[in-house]
Amino acid sequence: MIGRNDPCWCGSGKKYKKCHLIQDQATSAALPPRQPRRPSLKDKKLIKSPHDIEGMERAGVFNGELLDYIRPLIKAGISTGEIDTLVHDYTVSHGHTPACLGYLGYPKSVCTSINNVVCHGIPSSKEVLREGDIVNVDLTSIVDGYYGDSSETFMIGAVSEEARHLVMVTAEAMIRGIDAVRPGVPLAAIAEAIEPFVVSKGCSVVHQYTGHGIGKKFHEHFTVYHHIDRDCEPVILTPGMTLTIEPMINRGGWDVVTDQVDGWTVRTRDGSLSAQFEHTVLVTEGAAKVLTLTPSQKASGVRLSVDGISFG
Ligand code: MF3
Ligand code: CO
Ligand code: CO
Repeated sequence: MIGRNDPCWCGSGKKYKKCHLIQDQATSAALPPRQPRRPSLKDKKLIKSPHDIEGMERAGVFNGELLDYIRPLIKAGISTGEIDTLVHDYTVSHGHTPACLGYLGYPKSVCTSINNVVCHGIPSSKEVLREGDIVNVDLTSIVDGYYGDSSETFMIGAVSEEARHLVMVTAEAMIRGIDAVRPGVPLAAIAEAIEPFVVSKGCSVVHQYTGHGIGKKFHEHFTVYHHIDRDCEPVILTPGMTLTIEPMINRGGWDVVTDQVDGWTVRTRDGSLSAQFEHTVLVTEGAAKVLTLTPSQKASGVRLSVDGISFG
């Protein structure tokens, strides 16, 4: 067992007692499940109107269609620049807007993050996918003013066992996060469902990038941590809230660095592989409703399928 003065398991370099000890005690299996809590007035302000929820549903449906469109094209030999053009043209030809294009100065319509790139990889015609790569393609569309945001990590041909392990752990981490979304549950329950699982699989959860509230804006109030963090706001998940769950999971340590030249590309600090999956979800009276299900996911009744493996 880890001692109070040992380095924390999360790789922060801090002593265990100064880092995750309290959270681990709070989340130990011996404790009874959380009782649903009532939302505060502040929480209630985050609840979307039926009209807005309908808009979010439509944005999610389109983003799902876009993902099904692009998925079979992501193969060895295609450049990330070509993926960007395909995403852009499909979105625009359907009368919608690629949310990333021009967002805070971002130059492309999609993020393509290969191997040790954690997120915000910028597509380029010079960057060609090769057998053995893993690549996250993160799509965000604006449909009649509402945002849909989802991503998947693809394995290009045969990948290493290590890469496959990471991708599967990340897929399950996202699903566990979605399963933690219940009415009356604190926002922190998402991280509590994700981080201990990921760490038990020998991987780590990126701290610096998170999920988010989403609606008529890309990144709305509140931050959805996927790692256990004292700064997680005391939001009570309440029917009508919409948010993304999008854990970025590293094979090595959780720390990342941003490219100083392009100002966007985020890489693992230790050079290890990183994967991510993302869905936009709606809090309901029961299980979270996944708004960004793709047509193929709907047809097969799963929220995610990776290389033929279904995740519930
Ligand atoms: N789609 C990312 C997210 O999940 C954000 C990308 S912002 C961009 O929140 F500017 F890099 F496109
Ligand atoms: Co995204
Ligand atoms: Co997002």
